[in-house]
Amino acid sequence: MDIILIGAPGAGKGTQAMMLSQALSIRHISSGDLFRKAFDDKTPLGLQTQKYIDLGELVPDALTVSMVLRCIEEPTSANGVLLDGFPRTLPQVQALDVELQTIGRELDLAIYLSVPQDEILKRLAGRLFCHAHQHVYHTEIRPPKVNGVCDLDGSELYQRADDKGEALRRRLVIFFTETIQLLNHYKAQNKLREVDGNQSIEKVQEIIMNEIKDYTGKTTHA
Ligand code: AP5
Ligand code: MG
Repeated sequence: MDIILIGAPGAGKGTQAMMLSQALSIRHISSGDLFRKAFDDKTPLGLQTQKYIDLGELVPDALTVSMVLRCIEEPTSANGVLLDGFPRTLPQVQALDVELQTIGRELDLAIYLSVPQDEILKRLAGRLFCHAHQHVYHTEIRPPKVNGVCDLDGSELYQRADDKGEALRRRLVIFFTETIQLLNHYKAQNKLREVDGNQSIEKVQEIIMNEIKDYTGKTTHA
C-alpha cells in the first residue's frame, strides 16, 4: 500500500506514521526528517536546505522531489510507503503520481488529519524530538520516562528551532493557504479520507486503521 498523510504542523503525522508503518509493514518516509538528518550529517543537500527550514519556508520542489523519489525507489520501499509531509505542492503531487506509475503502483489513500489551530499550538509548544532517530514526545501528553532522554534509543531530546516564532507562523500560513489545496485534488480522485485528529493518539490511530481496512475491504471485493 502507498499512503500519504496530510496535516498541518503538529497535526500528528509523524506520531501516527511511526505506529502505522509498523502495523502495516510499510516504510515511513518523512521529508522533514530526511532534511533534518541530512543537515545533521552535513551533506550538501542538508546544508543547502537548512535555510528554508529555519525560516519555515518550503524547500524548492526540485530538491524535495528528487530526495523523496530516491527513497521510494529503494528496495526497502517495495512493500509500500507511508509518506509523511510529502507531497505539499501540486508539482510534488504530479511527480509522485508519475513515479508510482513508473514502478507499477498507484497511490491508495490520502489521509488528512484535521486539527484546530489552538490545539496545534499546544502540541508544538511541548514537542520534543530525539537526536538519534527523531522519535517524537510531548512534555505533557507523551513525556519520556526519563526527563530529556529518548525511551527508545537513549539519545538527548531537543525542541525544534522552527517550532516557535516567525518560522512556526510561516509553516502554518503555508499549510493553510497552499498545502490545503491538495485536499481537492485527492477528493476528486476519491482517495481522500478526513480524520478528526483532535482526539487521543490511540483513538486517531484506530480511526485511521478502520479507514484503511474499509479501503482494502472494498478493493479486494471489487
Ligand atoms: P516537517 O518536519 O514535515 O514539519 P511539519 O509538516 O510542519 O509537521 P510536524 O513534524 O511539525 O508535525 P507532525 O504532524 O509530524 O506532528 P507530530 O506527530 O510530531 O517539515 C519541516 C520543514 O521541512 C518544513 O517547514 C519545510 O521547510 C521542509 N519540508 C518538509 N517536507 C517538505 C516538502 N514536501 N516540500 C517542501 N519542504 C518540505 O506531533 C506534534 C506533537 O503533538 C508531538 O509532541 C506529539 O507527541 C503530539 N501529538 C501527536 N498526536 C497527538 C494527539 N492525537 N493528541 C495530543 N498530542 C498529540
Ligand atoms: Mg513530523
